[in-house]
Amino acid sequence: MGTFSPAILKGKVAFVAGGSSGINLGIAHGLAEAGARVAIISRKIEKVEAAVAELRGAGHEAMGSAADVRDYAAVEAALATVHEAWGEIDIVISGAAGNFLAPAAAMSANAFRTVVDIDLIGTFHVLRAAYAFLRKPGASVISITAGQAVNPTAFQSHVCAAKAGINMLTRCLALEWGPAGVRVNAIAPGPIRDTEGMARLTPTPEAEAALKRMIPLGDYGEKRDIADLSVFLSSESAKYITGAILDCDGGSSMTIRGLIDMTQ
Ligand code: NAP
Ligand code: COA
Repeated sequence: MGTFSPAILKGKVAFVAGGSSGINLGIAHGLAEAGARVAIISRKIEKVEAAVAELRGAGHEAMGSAADVRDYAAVEAALATVHEAWGEIDIVISGAAGNFLAPAAAMSANAFRTVVDIDLIGTFHVLRAAYAFLRKPGASVISITAGQAVNPTAFQSHVCAAKAGINMLTRCLALEWGPAGVRVNAIAPGPIRDTEGMARLTPTPEAEAALKRMIPLGDYGEKRDIADLSVFLSSESAKYITGAILDCDGGSSMTIRGLIDMTQ
């Protein structure tokens, strides 16, 4: 059962890029439990189909298609399909991302570019293509960033650069789209339990334990924590919030910074 009343997003249409697993699928569930119809995209059709089946199995109205956020035309076509089926889009979540630990001096140019392409350019594609289909006034756009956007982190130069770009894009678009009544925000999750991201960043129990010792609230967060913040930010209760980068991280952005070797 969701944290919020099923009425809070009743009748809203939501689009979640990168919504077939992990935190973003958790957000899709949260939005749906709060009353929204939810469409998702990601690269792999089998993952999309499984996630849509999971959402429908939970009693929600859901649809999905395969699209790579690096392909502007594919993203635009997916959004157009949702608009045609369900009407104006009220909520957009841009959360597709790629991550791996790699020292910059040993990273290929293509490896660096790949993460920037997915995270930053992909987010621009999703937001830019969505604009034509958004409810104006009233829409809420949320990008999923990370603490790496502001905290330099060893072996994460590609992710740090890409997520920093997302933070600035968020604030620029909040300025440009505010007059049309479109709010643009970002959420920076901290370490979240049972996710691909943390499997990649803390691959050993020792690395996980060391990271946990640095979190003021003492533990990883849950996907539900990010889903709840997304529901709030997408709701009428957040109608005066735009251009905000909101940490949901157990306080970890204050402590997980600098030359941290997460591989140890
Ligand atoms: P995840 O399960 O791997 O989620 C990534 C999603 O994006 C998947 O649905 C994936 O599906 C999709 N995706 C990847 N590349 C794509 C592309 N090029 N085009 C379209 N979809 C693509 O990872 P997660 O750990 O939950 O991370 C979700 C978000 O939270 C990311 O933005 C991440 O940076 C952020 N975050 C996570 C943590 C954490 O603790 N895990 C902390 C801070 C921030 P396909 O494979 O089918 O494409
Ligand atoms: N270390 C160093 N370089 C790596 C790497 C690693 N662990 N993984 C991939 N790369 C490099 C590849 O070698 C390639 O560079 P090259 O052409 O110079 O050899 C480049 O990155 C692109 O790799 P490729 O596998 O072709 O990219 P892709 O588009 O198929 O996949 C990734 C994108 C690499 C980000 C992949 O890890 C992915 O699909 N991630 C999605 C899931 C995820 O990361 N979830 C966590 C989100 S926080």
